[in-house]
Amino acid sequence: MRKPVAFITGAGGEIGHALITRLSENGTPVVTLDLQPLAADLATRVVREFTGSINDGALLERLLAQYEVVHIYHLAALLSTRSEFTPLTAHQVNVEGTLNLLEFAQREGESHGQPVVFVYPSSIAAYGLPSVDVKMRVGRVKEDEYVHPTTMYGCNKAYCEELGRYYARHYKQLSVDTIPRVDFRALRFPGLISATTVPAGGTSDYAPEMIHAAARRQPYECFVRPDTTLPFMAMPDASAALIALAEAPREKLTRTSYNVGAFSRSAEEIRQTVQAAFPDARISYRIDGKRQGIIDSWPADVDDTAARADWRFAPAYDFDRAFREYLIPTIGRFYAS
Ligand code: SER
Repeated sequence: MRKPVAFITGAGGEIGHALITRLSENGTPVVTLDLQPLAADLATRVVREFTGSINDGALLERLLAQYEVVHIYHLAALLSTRSEFTPLTAHQVNVEGTLNLLEFAQREGESHGQPVVFVYPSSIAAYGLPSVDVKMRVGRVKEDEYVHPTTMYGCNKAYCEELGRYYARHYKQLSVDTIPRVDFRALRFPGLISATTVPAGGTSDYAPEMIHAAARRQPYECFVRPDTTLPFMAMPDASAALIALAEAPREKLTRTSYNVGAFSRSAEEIRQTVQAAFPDARISYRIDGKRQGIIDSWPADVDDTAARADWRFAPAYDFDRAFREYLIPTIGRFYAS
């Protein structure tokens, strides 16, 4: 018999770290896939680790033969800044990779008879506000507003949300005997801030980079203007949200994609808070016009009423608590060790 497991792609990344830790603490058996071997502290927490690509069909076949996958957390992606340098590779990883995983989920579901819950972290990058004036005037955006992404990554995320909805609601609708086996659920993450990992290749990275540089006592040049405002969330709330969405009763879900957010702050407000926590921090501004343009197209805040109503999304960390009880103490210990 195949073992029932949760399957995480891109498991070695920032969200994967937090998610593996939380799922293994809950006693959930986890199988992972990543291009690189997992760090030793994570490898001991998983049932089986595959090293390879989400575009490797033979590898996914092996997985299908060996495991009854009940939940998929498809985290593998090239983030927004990196994707602008290699847009075609980004498309291959972010779109073709997701399509492979949706097909994999469909076949898993067919093989064990239950829909596979497919949790997809989408992003505020799916939005595209036309100007900073509009961005600051509209404030919190709803899921169906301003979905006109300006980056390859944002286009990939917006399209894969649609692909997921297709698999969940309309897959092969002209074949009379085909029942959808994919229970697709996406959340649009804001910028994420972890105390124990740093992101690679994103555009909201200035906030976590600022905090980690200060904790490491290194100078930091913030690449966006002081007034630049984005929604953010602490990493423990992000991993908790993924699991809460995965476990929500299907009949409560009124959408396939949900905004989630915890606090919206400007770069300058973050700088001042970091400076107060680490008085010898040396943070200055050196604007990167292209990355600023990307951030200016992302919303200043998100309306996550639907997530709060449908699956009781409730982040534990607002801005003050995220710094006081999570980031500052944890990051201090992290670099001390
Ligand atoms: N944090 C991501 C990025 O900056 C957005 O989802 O690319």
